[in-house]
Amino acid sequence: MPDHSSRSLQTLTVATTGASGSLFLKQFLLAVEREPRIGAVNFVASDSALRVMAEELGLKGRAHLATQLLAPEIKKPSRKIQLQANADIGANIASGSYPVDAMVVIPCSVGTLARIAHGDASHLIERAADVCLKEQRRLVLCVRETPLNKIHIRNMYRAADAGATIFPLIPAFYYRPASLEQMAQEFASRVLAHIGLPQSHAYRWKG
Ligand SMILES: Cc1cc2nc3c(=O)[nH]c(=O)nc-3n(C[C@H](O)[C@H](O)[C@H](O)COP(=O)(O)O)c2cc1C
Repeated sequence: MPDHSSRSLQTLTVATTGASGSLFLKQFLLAVEREPRIGAVNFVASDSALRVMAEELGLKGRAHLATQLLAPEIKKPSRKIQLQANADIGANIASGSYPVDAMVVIPCSVGTLARIAHGDASHLIERAADVCLKEQRRLVLCVRETPLNKIHIRNMYRAADAGATIFPLIPAFYYRPASLEQMAQEFASRVLAHIGLPQSHAYRWKG
């Protein structure tokens, strides 16, 4: 069961992969950057994520990736978000000895889901996720694909069975979002609440 009590996170890992939904990553990173209860963020992007972000957000390559994603809302380079190379399996988050409070993969492709579900830890994203599972730390997979085949569904089951939260990239509609940005912001708030950081400005159903 998720712990909804408010607390601080020393370190958060944010990974992004080649599934559609770069806008959700952007709004999540903005929320993380602005969240004073989060200390440091290790950020990893797969090569396919860069391809999709170029398509969906017009981003230009890996250089200053976090700064590109935070612009134009935040103009200065982030001091909190550190980009890690997906090929660097010697990065801090590749080891269980490095303290990580939670990891969020947003969006999570079914390819990355499959590798995590099968313990294929050949890149940093999958290795960091594997470490979270073995250390019983929170791992949130914002899986995005439609329709889903039985392989995807089995892999979601396998990952959930190993301790991950499957948090599909499916927004809510009952608060009548006025824009795509608002939809992605509310989704980011739900993910943050799930890892113990409820957002005071988030929509709350009153019944
Ligand atoms: C524009 C675009 C959109 C894509 N959307 C999805 C998607 O929604 N879900 C998915 O699982 N893969 C999607 N893919 C395919 C993945 O990028 C591809 O399977 C890739 O190998 C995943 O690599 P990664 O898991 O290392 O990031 C998309 C690819 C492109 C170019």
